[in-house]
This record gives sequence, C-alpha cells and structure tokens, in this order.
Amino acid sequence: SSHAAAGHGHAQAAAAGGTVAATSVTTLAIDPARPADVRVELVARAERVSPPGGEPFDGFTLNGRTPGPTIRAKQGQLVEVVLRNEDVPAGVTAHWHGVDVPNAMDGVAGVTQDAVPPGESFTYRFVAEQVGTFWYHSHQASHPQVVGGLYGALILEPGDAAAAPATIADAVATVHTYPGGQRTINGAAGEVRQTAEPGATVRVRLINTDSTPTSAWVTGSAFRVLAVDGTDLNRPTPIDGGAVPLTAGGRADLEVTVPATGAVRVQVPGASLVVGPDRAEASTSPAPREELDLLDYGEPADVGFDPAQPDRRFRYDIGRMPGFLDGVPGYWWTINGGIVPAVPMYMVREGDVAVMTISNSSGEVHPMHLHGHHLLVLSRDGVPSSGSPWWVDSLNVEHGETYEVAFVADNPGIWMDHCHNLPHAAEGLMTHLAYV
Ligand code: C2O
Ligand code: CU
Repeated sequence: SSHAAAGHGHAQAAAAGGTVAATSVTTLAIDPARPADVRVELVARAERVSPPGGEPFDGFTLNGRTPGPTIRAKQGQLVEVVLRNEDVPAGVTAHWHGVDVPNAMDGVAGVTQDAVPPGESFTYRFVAEQVGTFWYHSHQASHPQVVGGLYGALILEPGDAAAAPATIADAVATVHTYPGGQRTINGAAGEVRQTAEPGATVRVRLINTDSTPTSAWVTGSAFRVLAVDGTDLNRPTPIDGGAVPLTAGGRADLEVTVPATGAVRVQVPGASLVVGPDRAEASTSPAPREELDLLDYGEPADVGFDPAQPDRRFRYDIGRMPGFLDGVPGYWWTINGGIVPAVPMYMVREGDVAVMTISNSSGEVHPMHLHGHHLLVLSRDGVPSSGSPWWVDSLNVEHGETYEVAFVADNPGIWMDHCHNLPHAAEGLMTHLAYV
C-alpha cells in the first residue's frame, strides 16, 4: 500500500542521511491491516442551517447536524474516520486541529490531499498519542465551511483509567458563532446544561471554533486551568475570579467543583454552560477585567529539550501593505515584508530544535496556528515564561506583541503555519513548515 511505501522511504532517507533520528510513532505508517479501535463515519452535506437567533443560511452539516458528533478515543487507540462528501460542491476535508497526526492525515486540501469531491470519501487513520481537548474542521475553503458548520469536538482520553482521577467527569463546550446568529455552545444558544452532583469535580473542555479571540469566566466555584491546547499545565493553582483567554482555534480545560447548593456557570460572552443538578440555579457575573496570564501560571517543569541552543532560528513578522495577491489589488497581510507567495517557507531537518520569533505590527490580532507540532512559549515582549511549560498550537498575537516560541521538528511533512482568523488566512496570512 502507499502508506507502507511512504514509511519505508522515510526510514531509508534517515539512514542515508547518516543520522538516525528519534522516530516518533506518528512518522510510522500504520499497518493497513490493523483494525480500528474507534471508527466514525462523517457525512458532509450542503444544507440550509437555521442558526439560533438568526435567519437560515446556506451552511453545512455532518451526519445531519452541526456541530458534528464529538469523537472520543483513548490514548493508543487507532482512530479511523471515513469522511464522505454527499454534495458539498467545493469539496471537503477533515483537519484534526492540535493533533500531531502523520502528514498525510492532516487534511489540508492542496497540501496533504485533494479536497474530497461530492460523491467521494477519504479515510483518515491515526493513532491517538496525545491526551486532551482537540477539534476537527474542514480545511477546504476553511472560512465559509467552518463558520457554516463543518466542525466538531475531538477528545483524547488517557489510556488507562488510573491516569485520571476517576471522580473527574467532563463537559465539552464548543463555542461557535454561525453567520447572522448568536453565539452557541455545542450548537445551542443561551444556556447549555451539564448535569452533575453537588461536590462533583468536572473538567470543562472549552473549544473556541470562532475566528476571533474570546475569554471564559466562572461563577459559583473556584477553578483551575488544567490544560491549554490539549496539553496539561504543571501544578495549576486555584483561581477565584479572572477570565481565561481563549484564542481562535484554542482550547482551555477548566476544573470546576459543583457547590453544595446551586450550580457553577462557565460563561463566554453571549453563552454559558451551567454545571450542576438539573434545575439548580446558577448566578451570573459580568466579564472580569483582568485575564489570567499563562506566562506565569503554574510551575516550571522539564520540557525534554533545550531551547537555548536551537538548530534553527526563524522570524515570522506579520505586517500589512498594499499590493497584489493572486493578481488582486488590496491591502494584504505580509510575512517578513512579503505578500504570498513572496513569503518564507520554514525549512527544518528532523530532530531540529527551532526557535521562532513571531511579531505583529499589522494593526490587528492574529491567532497563529502551526500544524503537526506544538509550540512552547518562551517569552512575550522579552519577558520569559516563569510558570508551567505553556504549549500551544494556537497562539494569540496582539498588535505590537512579540513572542518567542520553540518547537522540536519531529513530524516530517509539509505543514501549514497560518492565522486562525480564517478570513485572514484566505487573505494571505499563511505559509508552511517543511522538512528537507
Ligand atoms: Cu484549525 Cu490550519 O487549522
Ligand atoms: Cu490574522
């Protein structure tokens, strides 16, 4: 099969290079004969969608609904998703946002596969190696398709129950705003409820599928931020008040405890999730002014590599200028002063430690998303991270800010590195990381 051939070629290339790179399981071809542990079929359709609080629009569904089904798998399991395109004229794909899958499974139309045309299907197979909160969405005509409904939650759980305290139940909260509608959680507007007993500890998995940053806050419980972008934080402390930033595409897992009476409310502007006994009252509170700074939250821990001696240093300077994109005049985003295609492609060798400086002088905020890898935040505006290792796949970079991030190039392929404000990506704020 082509999978087996690709895996073999990779091994040969490593041998020919004279160095034996640490081969992660993601780079190995999955035995096509291995049966799937979790098998899901997703059927994409073009349909009229009636968004809560808005007029029907020409949107999309997965298995007749939006968001699509929540997909759950345990660490080590082989996930197989058959994506069938019933009638979406532009074609569809499935990208596993935040999951460092093998490149061929990344679901980027025009880069890792062709979009699946109407009447056809594509089978994704990957082993769940990470544990955490992720999501999936189409990566073909991403802006209209994601905002229009082609997305869902993807939850990867520890393989053995002992790895997670048995008392922690979870609640998925997928935040999304449909065209012309109001903000929704799991597709519903206003107040969404999750049943839990008094005293229960619940892991609320917030997923921001919108193109703009938001924040969440909690009323009725102290809380901890257990994880960001699918990676656990080290020793997060309880917080009483304050908002948790949620960048576009980003996730935050909050641990809340249901009080003896009443319920906990987790709010985002325009919608909320109430966790507690059925019909228990939950109070509301206005959005807090101050936001938790993940740069100094939690405690430092070993990250397994040394970013102080990188093999590569990259610069990703975001700006804006008048010019032409695909022959169309406009005021376009620039990377290192150029408009696509005059932008850098970031080249690495397998095993490289890379440090990237991302700066933004474009006048707007950009949630930067690298595929296939996680970025360790080293510093912001020269202030080094002093808290837990803060790993992201979606990083909110405000106008005037400069972040220094590091990653280990451990997943060969060609990977998009783009703004997750999806209209911005369509306006040229995108480039690629490639292995040589
Ligand atoms: Cu969530 Cu390139 O995408
Ligand atoms: Cu942007």
